[in-house]
Amino acid sequence: LFAGETDFLKGVVAMDGLPPADRLEVCFAGRSNVGKSSLINALTGRKGLARASNTPGRTQEINYFTTLGGPFLVDLPGYGYAEAPLPVVEKWQRLLKAYLSGRQTLRRAFVLIDARHGVKAVDEEIMALLDSAAVTFQVVLTKADKVKAKDRDKVLNQVRAALSNHPAAYPELVVTSSEKGDGIATLRAIIAGIE
Ligand code: GTP
Ligand code: MG
Repeated sequence: LFAGETDFLKGVVAMDGLPPADRLEVCFAGRSNVGKSSLINALTGRKGLARASNTPGRTQEINYFTTLGGPFLVDLPGYGYAEAPLPVVEKWQRLLKAYLSGRQTLRRAFVLIDARHGVKAVDEEIMALLDSAAVTFQVVLTKADKVKAKDRDKVLNQVRAALSNHPAAYPELVVTSSEKGDGIATLRAIIAGIE
């Protein structure tokens, strides 16, 4: 499904630009800078495939990647980033919401949560949106390499408590580090098993 077989397809700025819904897809959602693009690079084994950056708000389009015989991987613009001009932020938020609630072939949303910070109010908003759209979502903790095991476990408990309020939440969490590779094989297997 992945290594060597993944390619950038297109960047989308409006719903009518989405590619034909001719296969399933999974998307990566999360606050700005949480590590969505880095995770796609780690999953595919291609470092420069999705543009990752220290500047929050780097991904400004819905970016589609193809896998061989598998689902589209969809890299979303981050939410909760207030530095960009308000009209720009509002445009992304509208597109994000339209996409998350209106894409028939979206089988799972991976909601990325920073292993140091846990679930924030903006994450709760996205989770509530996914509940109402009946899109199953699964939490992926990112940047596990940046946190001590004890602090990570506290965050895991906070995330589990938050998920208990969300009917669309898939109960299994995945702890990852795109930097060190933790959890990447697990997440690949989860994506390969989605039908
Ligand atoms: P936007 O597109 O702006 O929403 O950000 P994003 O969620 O795509 O984040 P991105 O992948 O660009 O990563 C943001 C920063 O976090 C970059 O400097 C990455 O190198 C860093 N980063 C991402 N994943 C990890 C990780 O697992 N460990 C560490 N240490 N740094 C990471
Ligand atoms: Mg990005």
